[in-house]
Amino acid sequence: MQVQIVDHPLAAARLTTMRDKTTDNAAFRAALSDLTQMLVYEALADAPTATVSIETPLTAFDGARLATPPLLVPVLRAGLGMVEQAHAMVPEAHVGFVGVARDETTAEPVPYLESLPDDLASLPVFVLDPMLATGGSMLHTIELLVARNATDITAVCVVAAPEGVAALERSGHPVRLVVAAVDERLDETAYIVPGLGDAGDRQFGPR
Ligand code: URA
Repeated sequence: MQVQIVDHPLAAARLTTMRDKTTDNAAFRAALSDLTQMLVYEALADAPTATVSIETPLTAFDGARLATPPLLVPVLRAGLGMVEQAHAMVPEAHVGFVGVARDETTAEPVPYLESLPDDLASLPVFVLDPMLATGGSMLHTIELLVARNATDITAVCVVAAPEGVAALERSGHPVRLVVAAVDERLDETAYIVPGLGDAGDRQFGPR
């Protein structure tokens, strides 16, 4: 599996703001939005383009557009904070939704929403979820996508645990990971350490 770590001073600065426990909800959302812009930009660096013939004010010109804009799939709740900025980067993209809650006693994913096109063959898909912890929510989402014939899936995450990366690798699914940092480990409650806490609570307040 390809793991692309977005290692840039501006990405590191936004991630530091997100990690800081004194950052309030609004500043956390703003940093997540900025970081999403950088992650999506990097995730599309090698995307195929199609030629668009236009006229500049001076002459005819062959320009470019994305050949196949990806389907954006935020994983609710935490992925909601990434979708607006990702959509601003790729305004022509369509958007699907997956909802997965976390059972706080078992740390197991509890799916509650799935709103996706029926056929994803030949469509790249970007799954937006800030935290790749055990990999349970991401694997659930990837399985929904593969069941709809997706073969080109990118997990766009802010922080990953090595355990989550290993789970994606073991799955053998056609996925690559674009992420700002791979942290040390999961703690006994499946939170990422050093991490940034609960990415949903940090954006929207506690449930
Ligand atoms: N989900 C989060 O929001 N944070 C973690 O550290 C792990 C899972």
